[in-house]
Amino acid sequence: MLSVKDSLLNRTSVRRYEREQIPQETMDFIYEAVRNTPTSYNGQQFSVIDISDQTLKEELYALTNQKQLKTCNRLLIFCSDFNKMQVLAARKDVKMPPITDCMDGVILGIIDASLAMMSAVVAAQACGLGSNCVGYLRTVDPAKVAELLHLPKGVFVVCGLALGIPREHPDLKPKQPKDLVFFQNRYREDSETMADELFDYDKVVEEYNRTRAGGTTENDWCAHICNYYDHATAYRILDYLKAQGYDITH
Ligand SMILES: Cc1cc2nc3c(=O)[nH]c(=O)nc-3n(C[C@H](O)[C@H](O)[C@H](O)COP(=O)(O)O)c2cc1C
Repeated sequence: MLSVKDSLLNRTSVRRYEREQIPQETMDFIYEAVRNTPTSYNGQQFSVIDISDQTLKEELYALTNQKQLKTCNRLLIFCSDFNKMQVLAARKDVKMPPITDCMDGVILGIIDASLAMMSAVVAAQACGLGSNCVGYLRTVDPAKVAELLHLPKGVFVVCGLALGIPREHPDLKPKQPKDLVFFQNRYREDSETMADELFDYDKVVEEYNRTRAGGTTENDWCAHICNYYDHATAYRILDYLKAQGYDITH
C-alpha cells in the first residue's frame, strides 16, 4: 500500500482503466475507510450506491457522455441521505424535525457525502487504483438518475466516483500556489498583489494545457472555469431537490 504522503501528493484524476476487476479486499478497505468518515453530528447523512452492473453504467454514460462511467470497474455514487434517519425516527415514533427544509440540511448532507467520497479517493489511491469524481451525475439529468437509482425522498446524488485499475498516468495538474490557498489569521487584504499572483497562476495553467501529455488545449484557467460556471448557471438543482422532498424555506 502507498504511504499517505504518496497517496495524497501523487493523486491525479484517472479516466481510463484496465478491464480487470478491483480485488474484493481493496473494495472492503474502501468501504471501511468510507464508513469511518467524520460526519456532521455523527449523523452519517450519506449513503453510497456501488454500481457494478454494466447495463446501469452504460445508461448513466448515455445521460452524461462521461466515458469513464462505462469503462470503470466500479462506480460509487455518493448521496446525501436523510431517509435513513426518517425511517428510524418513524420506527421509534420520534418526530423528525424538518431538516430538509433548511439550507443547512442541504449543506451538511453535501459535506458528509463529499468527505466520504474523499475517504474513498484516498483509500483507492493508496491501493494503486485510479479514480475520477463525476459531478455530471448530479447536474445533467438528476431526475433520471434518481429514477435509475430508485432514490427515495430525502436522498439526492452529490457526486459519482469512478474506480478502476489505471490505464493511464496523467501529469499532475499545477495547483494554486500556497499563498493563494492559505491566508494567515485573516482573509488577504492585498487584492492587487493577489490579482497579480492569480494572473501568474493563470499563465502556468495555460502553459500546462498547451504542453501536457495526452491531449493539449489552448485555454487559460480563468476562461476555462468561467465557461463551466456559465453552464452551471443553467442547472435547475433547486427543482430537483424539491422533487426529492426538500422544501427549502431558509
Ligand atoms: C466534485 C467534483 C466533480 C467532478 N466532476 C467531474 C466530471 O464530471 N468529469 C470529469 O472528467 N472530471 C470531474 N472532476 C475531476 C476534476 O476535473 C479534477 O479533479 C480537476 O480537473 C483536477 O485534476 P486532478 O484531479 O487530476 O488534480 C470532478 C472533480 C470534483 C471534485
